[in-house]
Amino acid sequence: MSYAWADFVEECKQCKACPLCETRNNVVVIRGSVRAPLMLIGEGPGANEDLQGLPFVGQAGKLLDLLLSAYGFSGDDYHICNIVKCRPPENRVPTAEEAKACMPLLAKQIRFGRPKIIVLLGKTAYKYFMSTEEAIGKVRGRFIEKNDFLILPTFHPAYILRNNNERITLWRDIGLVREKMEELGLIAPLSDIPMMPKGRA
Ligand code: URA
Repeated sequence: MSYAWADFVEECKQCKACPLCETRNNVVVIRGSVRAPLMLIGEGPGANEDLQGLPFVGQAGKLLDLLLSAYGFSGDDYHICNIVKCRPPENRVPTAEEAKACMPLLAKQIRFGRPKIIVLLGKTAYKYFMSTEEAIGKVRGRFIEKNDFLILPTFHPAYILRNNNERITLWRDIGLVREKMEELGLIAPLSDIPMMPKGRA
């Protein structure tokens, strides 16, 4: 019997692999399209996400959506998820144990999504996904080739909301994603992409 997306979602809902299952209201799996050339991975659900069962639906999500739609992405182009699928209490950063416990589900999710480009939103996603302590400010904005993926670390939209002077950097990085996807034929070119600066910050 084959293991379908619905089976995967059910597995996520039943998951008790770490203590976050005790305090969650909802398991937060996806927003966007299951199969998509672009996957964006954040840290973990916050209060809004936990209540709605969807990733990035609070203030940071609004900024992310604004960026994605400004660059002409539609929900068919991307798959949004997180390192952990259950809200860490008080919105704390997920522990290494929690991230590790959730990783097999994320690995399955990536197999369903089959993305070519993976954007890691913020230092926690970068740290746990790449198993590194390198500073996000040092590595952001450059594609890393790994296991046939092109991985782009960038700032977390919540960080940008607190550090407005870095806003242009996140804009640029999402612009790089658009450019790369067009270059690879993963998305049809847009003739007039607003505010698409060329090159790195
Ligand atoms: N921040 C994240 O990292 N993920 C969400 O889903 C919401 C906010």
